[in-house]
Amino acid sequence: MESNMTPSSSEDFFSALWRQYIALSPQAARIQSLLAKPDTPLVNDHVAFRTFNRAPINIASIQPWLAQLGYVPLDSYVFEDKKLLAKSFVKEGAAQNLEHYAPLIFLSELEVEKLSLPAQAIIEKLLTQLDKSKLNGPAFFYSGQLWPAPSVTEYKALLAESEYAAWLSVMGMRANHFTVLVNALDSFTSLSELLSFLEQQGYSINDAGGKIKGSPAVLLEQGSTMADRQAYTFSDGHEEDLPTCFYEFALRYPTAEGKLYQGFVPASADKIFESTHKH
Ligand code: NI
Repeated sequence: MESNMTPSSSEDFFSALWRQYIALSPQAARIQSLLAKPDTPLVNDHVAFRTFNRAPINIASIQPWLAQLGYVPLDSYVFEDKKLLAKSFVKEGAAQNLEHYAPLIFLSELEVEKLSLPAQAIIEKLLTQLDKSKLNGPAFFYSGQLWPAPSVTEYKALLAESEYAAWLSVMGMRANHFTVLVNALDSFTSLSELLSFLEQQGYSINDAGGKIKGSPAVLLEQGSTMADRQAYTFSDGHEEDLPTCFYEFALRYPTAEGKLYQGFVPASADKIFESTHKH
């Protein structure tokens, strides 16, 4: 499938998204082959996207394309310190047990008006250069760079206020991460066991707020690698290795009704966002 074609199913959507993702985060493909067994493919818990709260790319504008894939809103979240709002989406009618699990989708947006005026001006400049041909349905979510590269000065100005804004200015639209549902792994029964194994294999684990975010009490434990890096050329020709995307691991606990908890835990997600910080 061409990358600009509308996916015909949510399965096609996630395949196209994965191909784009592992091109910038090859560690995810390597980890997938370390963990997957021929008879037990990995279960993807969720994918996450970043955007600005500005039409036509804010959550309200782009969520109809998730509806085209059969996804409906589930929950809303606020990240005060990071100046973000977020919404989660679930495939309508999905059983969400280990046999039938549709990945959740997590959309966040930066509250641009909460940044300084110079930072807002940089973002508005990017938005005026938005490639509108990319606003074409679900394929938007893997359409990559949305505007011409910023200058290194603009990038650093954004970075000083919001790592999220800086990342989005250069990475554009793509899965910020995919997530392994640890419950579905045969060989690991705890998240700490899995993270130790990955560290032994040479992967860096995000330890902001501790390697394991959350607990059984909040029904969700999460961890992640630090993002891969790739050379990026700014508009002024300056080249630098920048953080790209990372791989996340989630262990979900059953709710009182006996179903796997389907929410996110803001205090944990807040630290997961830092997986694209420089290290
Ligand atoms: Ni996540």
